[in-house]
Amino acid sequence: MEGLTRWLTIEQLSEAASYLRRGDVVAFPTETVYGLGANALDAEAVRRIFAAKGRPADNPLIVHCHDAAQVATIVEPWDAVVQRLMDAFWPGPLTLVLTKKPHVPLVTTGGLTTAAVRIPDHTVALELIRSAGVPLAAPSANRSGRPSPTRAEHVRDDLDGRIAAIVDGGPTGWGLESTVLDCTEVPFRLLRPGGVTVEQLRSFAEVVTDPGVYQEPKGPVRSPGMKYKHYAPECTVIVVVGEGLSAKIKELADNDAKDGKDVGVLAFSEHGGRYSGLLTLDLGSKYRLQEGAARLYHLLREADTLGLDTLYVEGMPDKELGMAIMNRLRRAAGYRVIVT
Ligand code: TXA
Ligand code: MG
Repeated sequence: MEGLTRWLTIEQLSEAASYLRRGDVVAFPTETVYGLGANALDAEAVRRIFAAKGRPADNPLIVHCHDAAQVATIVEPWDAVVQRLMDAFWPGPLTLVLTKKPHVPLVTTGGLTTAAVRIPDHTVALELIRSAGVPLAAPSANRSGRPSPTRAEHVRDDLDGRIAAIVDGGPTGWGLESTVLDCTEVPFRLLRPGGVTVEQLRSFAEVVTDPGVYQEPKGPVRSPGMKYKHYAPECTVIVVVGEGLSAKIKELADNDAKDGKDVGVLAFSEHGGRYSGLLTLDLGSKYRLQEGAARLYHLLREADTLGLDTLYVEGMPDKELGMAIMNRLRRAAGYRVIVT
């Protein structure tokens, strides 16, 4: 299929839906990041997603549905607490891991007997699922290991010629992937922080945070996605946290620059002035972390476009949306975090 990827506008969704019905793979926008969709119930179609991304076969996919009735065709009946989470956060950036129905192919769930499901909060995604007439298995539409795509152009950079079509819906809203919550055991377990925060979830249910959210997993993992390198640009990313972070970044980056390296700093708007003489990328306001979430992946890709050797990043407290941003930053940095 080399070179044959169709670029579609949101007026051409019926064409995208016909590709999906015949078992092809189509990238589409959601409110979090672009997804790489195929019929979740067609094992052959789902295999094409893994092939296009170069994704390990044991890393399960999220099944995207357009309403609760469709969700009920994928997973076994759920309890009242899960229902309250669905009512509160769907459509939206929350993925729930539940027990799968037998007819959902194991290819889709990476061999697990559970399935991850969500209803995206994006008119194009919902319309596409409805018009395809099938639930869509969709991981983020990047090459495995690369930062997730927040613009259709990012998808093209990674997957042109490897998929049937890309639906261009403009930049996505949240910019980080959905929160993943495992509801198959009590207490529920946060596997990946995202737009719906753990603080929000805790007003509905007891939630424990999986250690993989903070650390590089060593042994077996609950969410296979945790063990793979992720979200990483080509350049070396180093996250610095703590009171003295700006002084430390300045010192390290100045030294690198003296050694002839191309360095950059990813800093909050309020701190831009602290890095005079250094190339600074703007993470948005530290008082509005949604800005940083929305532009993070684009800026990581930008660091590569600029040909940087090293990118130093200002860290932030692991709370509310900062927990999701720090989770992605730690992984982009291969867990290189300097505490000052
Ligand atoms: O926002 C999002 O969630 C985006 C958009 C496209 O919806 N999708 C996305 O998919 O980020 P992906 O495949 O990049 O990440 C899915 C994560 C992986 O870490 C995977 O291991 C985990 O969800 N996951 C999927 N099914 C699971 C299951 N049954 N049990 C545990 N973890 C699961
Ligand atoms: Mg992904």
